[in-house]
Amino acid sequence: PSHLTIENSHLMIGGCDTVQLAFTHGTPLYVTDEIRIRENFRGYLTAMSGYYPKIRVLYAAKANGNLSIMKILAQEGAGADVFSSGELHLALLSGMKPEHLLFNGSSKTEADHRLAIEKGVRVSLDSLDELAQIDRIAGEAGKIVEVSFRVNPALDVPTHPKIATGLATSKFGIPAAEITDAYAAALACKHVIPVGIHCHIGSQILEVEPFAKEAQVMMEVVEELHRMGVKFKFVDLGGGLGVAYDHNGPDAPTFSAYAGAVMPVCTSVLGRLGISPEIWIEPGRSMVCDSTLLLTKVNSVKKAHKSFVNVDAGFNLLIRPAMYDSYHEVLIANRADEKPAGTYTVTGPICETGDILAHDRQLPAVMAGDLVAVLDAGAYGYSMASQYNGRGRCGEVLVKQGKAELMRRAETLDDLMAALITPSWLQ
Ligand code: LLP
Repeated sequence: PSHLTIENSHLMIGGCDTVQLAFTHGTPLYVTDEIRIRENFRGYLTAMSGYYPKIRVLYAAKANGNLSIMKILAQEGAGADVFSSGELHLALLSGMKPEHLLFNGSSKTEADHRLAIEKGVRVSLDSLDELAQIDRIAGEAGKIVEVSFRVNPALDVPTHPKIATGLATSKFGIPAAEITDAYAAALACKHVIPVGIHCHIGSQILEVEPFAKEAQVMMEVVEELHRMGVKFKFVDLGGGLGVAYDHNGPDAPTFSAYAGAVMPVCTSVLGRLGISPEIWIEPGRSMVCDSTLLLTKVNSVKKAHKSFVNVDAGFNLLIRPAMYDSYHEVLIANRADEKPAGTYTVTGPICETGDILAHDRQLPAVMAGDLVAVLDAGAYGYSMASQYNGRGRCGEVLVKQGKAELMRRAETLDDLMAALITPSWLQ
C-alpha cells in the first residue's frame, strides 16, 4: 500500500519512520495514517455516487472510535453508525451532524433512547419492545422521533460465524417475514415515524455477491413498505467490504466492484417506485483497517518447541487473532527489507497460551530489541483492547505526510487504579 514504504531498511508509514516513532513514544504503539482514511472514505463515496446522487457514508464507529479519526471523517462529510451512547457522544463531539447518525443496537436502554431523542438522532429499532419504549419516551418528551427497523435478511455469508450478523439464527433484526407487521405497528404509533430501513449481513466478507443479495432483499421489503405508506428518507445497506489481511492472498473487492454489485439493484427498484431516499452504507473495517499498524518491541526470542518471538503487545491490544483466528501480516520494522531466515511465532505478554499474534511466519533472524509491525490493525484493534493482566492500553499516534502526534496517550498505573473504590470494611 502507498502509505507504507521502506527507507534505510526501516518501515515508514505516512512518511514517518516507525523506528523513530517507537523511540519517541515507546511501545506498544498504534500508528494511523490520516491520508489513508480519507482515501478509503472517498473510495466508497465516489464509487457509489457514480450510480446515484444521494449517497451517505456512515462510519461504523465501533471499528475505531478515536475522536481524531472521527474528526477526520467528520471533515470528509461522513456520518456514523453508533451502537452506544458513548459512540453517539463521540460522533457529535467530532462534529458530525445528528441527522447523519444512526443509533443502532439490539439491546438499547431507556437512557440510550432518551439521549437519541434529546440530540435529534434517528434510531434503528431491533424489536417491538424497543418500538413501544421509544414511542413512550418520545411522547413524554413531546417529540416525534424518526426510526427505522433492522431487517434480518436470513442470509448465510462467507465469513467467521461470530461476525455473520444476518443469519436467520442471529440475534439481530426483525425477520423479513414479520417486517411489515413491525412497520404497521410503527405507523400506528403517535410519537414515532418510520422513515428508513436498515440491515447488516456480516463483517469481513470478501465477495460482493452477498451484498447484492442483501440489496435485493432490502429492495423487496422497501417496495412492500412503500406500498403500505412508509415514506422512505433512507435505506441503510449496512457494513462494508472485508479486507485482504493476507498480502500474498487474493485482493479484496474494490469499492467500484461493491458499488457495481449493489447500486443497480437499488436504483432500478427505487426508479420504478419513483422514490429517491438517501442510500446509506455503514463501513467500519474497510475505512480504517489498512490505515494503522501496531508497533510492538521484541522482549526476547526463545527457541523451544518453536521459535517464539515474545513481544510487548498481546491480545490485550489486538484480540482478533485470538478471538477469530484472524491473520495479520507482521514484519520486522527495523530491518524491513531483509530476507526471511527462519520460522517464528509471535506471542504477546499475556498469561494465556492463546496469546499469539502470528503463527509460524517466515521472518529475518529476529533478535531481542527488534521492532515488530503488525499490519492492518486499524479496525477492531484498539477499540477491542482491554486492561487484562494489569496492563494499561497503549498510545495511539496519528501521522500525516511526515508529521506525527499522539491522538491518545498510553494509560498509566494511575489510570488502572482510577475507577477502583475500596468498600468501607476493607479500608
Ligand atoms: N453496521 C453494523 C450494524 C454492524 O454491526 C457492523 C459491524 C458494521 C456496520 C461495520 O461492519 P464492517 O464494515 O466493519 O464490516 N470485531 C470483529 C468485527 C465485528 C463487526 C460487527 N459489526 C472483527 O474484528 O473482525
